[in-house]
Amino acid sequence: MKNPEQSRIISALELELKEGFSLDSSGHDWWHLYRVRNNSLKINLEEKGDAFIVETSALLHDISDWKFNGGDDKQGALEAEKILKKLACPLKDIIRIKEIINEVTFKGANVKEINSSIESKIVQDADRLDAIGAIGIARAFAYGGSKNRLMFDPNAKAELHESFSAYKNSKSSTINHFYEKLLLLSDKMKTTTGKKLAQSRNEYMKDFIEQFFLEWDTDSNI
Ligand code: ADP
Ligand code: NI
Repeated sequence: MKNPEQSRIISALELELKEGFSLDSSGHDWWHLYRVRNNSLKINLEEKGDAFIVETSALLHDISDWKFNGGDDKQGALEAEKILKKLACPLKDIIRIKEIINEVTFKGANVKEINSSIESKIVQDADRLDAIGAIGIARAFAYGGSKNRLMFDPNAKAELHESFSAYKNSKSSTINHFYEKLLLLSDKMKTTTGKKLAQSRNEYMKDFIEQFFLEWDTDSNI
C-alpha cells in the first residue's frame, strides 16, 4: 500500500508526464508510460518488489531517452532526480529510482546487462513487454517512421551489436530491428512472471515476420 505522501508524488508525476508526453509519435507517448507502469505493477504482484519504487521508475523510465536526447544514456536519471526532488521525494528512494532508470534501456544484443535490484528487473521486463507483440510491432514502425528509417532493405543484413556505441549509431531498417532486438527479448526477460507474459507476444511477432516475408516474396535476411 502507498502512503499518502507516495500517492501525492505519483499523482503529480502522472499529471506532468501526461502533458509532457502527449504529442510523441515515436511510440514513446504517455500511453507507453501508462502501459509500462501497469505491467510493472502486475509483475510486481508476483515478484514482490517495492511497489512505490516500481511505479515511479516505470513512469519516469523514458523521461530523457538517449534515442531522443542526442545519445546521452545518463541524462534520464538526472532528469528524474530533478523532478523527484521538486516533489520532495525522499532521497533514499531517488537513489534507487535513478539506478533503475540507468539500467532498463536496451544497449545491443550482445551487450552485458546489469540489474541491481528486483525492481530494476521488473521495470525492464514491463518496458520490454511493450516492445513486443502487437503493440511492439506498432511501436517499432511508429519509431522507424519518426526516424526516417526504411521499413525493410533486402540488401542490408541484420547485426547483433557488441557495444552500445555500435547499437546507438546503427541506422537499421525496422524489420532488421526485429532481429537485432525485438525477437531476442523474450529470452532476455529477467523475472519468471515477465518470461511467462512474453511468450504469446513473441509467437505473435514471429507469425508477423513470417507473413511479412511471404508477402515480400523473399527469404528472411538473417
Ligand atoms: P529501450 O530503452 O529498451 O530502447 P524504449 O521504451 O525506449 O525501450 O523503446 C524501445 C522501442 O523503440 C522499441 O521497442 C521499438 O519499438 C523502438 N525502436 C528503437 N530502436 C528502433 C529501431 N532501430 N527501429 C525500429 N524501432 C525501434
Ligand atoms: Ni520505454
